[in-house]
Amino acid sequence: MERTVDSNYPTMPIVDHGPLPVLSEHEKKFIRATWPKIYINFEDIGLMVFLQFLKDFPDAQQLFPKFSEVKTEDLPHNPEVKWQASRIINAINDVIGLMDKESEMIQYLKELSREHSAQFQVDPSLFKEMLKIFAEQVFGHDGNEAYEKLFSIISILLSSSYK
Ligand code: HEM
Repeated sequence: MERTVDSNYPTMPIVDHGPLPVLSEHEKKFIRATWPKIYINFEDIGLMVFLQFLKDFPDAQQLFPKFSEVKTEDLPHNPEVKWQASRIINAINDVIGLMDKESEMIQYLKELSREHSAQFQVDPSLFKEMLKIFAEQVFGHDGNEAYEKLFSIISILLSSSYK
């Protein structure tokens, strides 16, 4: 199969360490063309990803004071869970909007990283895990190279203030 992506990461998994990958113009164009079709369902997709994350990493629920006590079966209908799920996918949407403004994108994600480490006490390995679930739910097992690169950028920068 022909590969159209000019990266050094032939079949790149989502990583949260190492040099910051650079999205090619082709990859940015691809993301811009496809993201609206995903984002149009941001509430449903965001919630599906977040619920799967809480299922795979049940201890993580304790970190969210607004729904730490909610029973598993009630999570899908809880407004705070839905709000949190939307915040995550909206942050990804904001990052996509900043793909051409790298320094602003870095600044935005570094600030979010500081909050997740100092205020929310989130284990940094979970960013990558959440974004892997996102990629799996949206693209299936084949994944998608451009998005995996974008998600690596997000994972690396969200982990950056822990070092
Ligand atoms: C793609 C990955 C993620 C993105 C883009 C993201 C984004 C956000 C955003 C935008 C906020 C709101 C920040 C604010 O109020 O200023 C937030 C809050 C938070 N995030 Fe994340 N997040 C991600 C992953 C995670 C993971 C893996 C966890 C761990 C379980 C986590 C735990 C939290 C907590 C505990 C809060 C505070 C919730 C509250 O206000 O009560 N996040 N996140």
